[in-house]
Amino acid sequence: MYNSKITGLGFYVPENVVSNDDLSNMMDTNDAWIQERTGIKERHWIEEGSEDTSAVMGAKAARIAIEKANLTKDDIDFIVFATLSPDYYFPGCGVQIQEMLEMQTIGAIDIRNQCSGFVYALSTADQFIKTGMYKNILVIGAEYHSNGLDKTTRGRGVSVIFGDGAGACVLSRTEDNNKGILSSHLHSEGKYADKLIVPSPSIKNWVPEILASNGEDISYFPFMDGTFVFKHAVVRFSEVIMEGLTANNLTPNDIDLFIPHQANLRISQFVQRKFKLRDDQIYNNIMNYGNTTAASIIIALSEAFEKGKIKDNDLVVLAAFGSGFTWGSVVIRW
Ligand code: COA
Repeated sequence: MYNSKITGLGFYVPENVVSNDDLSNMMDTNDAWIQERTGIKERHWIEEGSEDTSAVMGAKAARIAIEKANLTKDDIDFIVFATLSPDYYFPGCGVQIQEMLEMQTIGAIDIRNQCSGFVYALSTADQFIKTGMYKNILVIGAEYHSNGLDKTTRGRGVSVIFGDGAGACVLSRTEDNNKGILSSHLHSEGKYADKLIVPSPSIKNWVPEILASNGEDISYFPFMDGTFVFKHAVVRFSEVIMEGLTANNLTPNDIDLFIPHQANLRISQFVQRKFKLRDDQIYNNIMNYGNTTAASIIIALSEAFEKGKIKDNDLVVLAAFGSGFTWGSVVIRW
């Protein structure tokens, strides 16, 4: 069995910054409410007319990650792409990356696990490397939320939270068994699927319904039972972090950097208090990006690394919770 380690990181967010005040021109909301409930000050939203999509942003982040790994596109053996906002219902964004980066006809899969998407994607890539099947895998998380949000007062409980962006890493085989991904832990509980969901389009609710709805059918917008999600998030985050630490005979004290999925600053702060983590043991950037779902952890990881917050041999813990419900953690010795 081999180990896998992250050898290159990159992220891309659209230039267009949307502040909380900008949102209050679109709907009945205000900066104080958004900051107090979520910690978010601004997010990046793709501008109308831009070429950016989840796949395009993913490709931009991927090019950086491959370069930072000192590799070329031809060294990549496989693509894992996590998103809930793919360019097409099918095919997935993974195959678009293969084409956009002019790669060989390597395999590509999409992971559909929403806010836990990157954790699931990283874990999936890790298994392919552990078994020796592949050496270098491109793992991408990208979301184009802004075009699918209800930007009226009706949708304000959801739409103020989400941002667009993409992050990518190259996961590579290492012979050093003490380094890289130590373990990953994945969970789901589908009975709560309807608490955070975009019900349409679905095979049950297809083109005739879209045409008939005249924009009144809200099943095309994300629905979230925010309070319910919040209560489950804090419990599951805590459980899955402990699960990861215990599996490796570690304690919260051993964490050098914890990167939670950026769902809500209050959730991150709850977890920080619960595990008595110092400010330098946790990295949050939701203030500037909002919740970018499958892209959030990999954007935060790339940014933290760029800022010199991760050193060789550091213990880095990633954890996520989201729609499904799904949740998971990855424990990494850098
Ligand atoms: N601006 C102003 N007021 C708003 C608003 C907005 N953007 N969105 C909702 N409100 C209002 C509500 O209408 C409600 O008004 P009422 O009391 O008159 O009915 C009030 O604010 C409180 O709404 P509520 O939904 O109870 O707020 P909350 O404290 O639960 O915060 C969330 C809402 C969404 C920020 C919070 O529930 C949350 O973060 N949940 C977890 C979400 C999450 O992490 N999702 C991603 C998981 S991956």
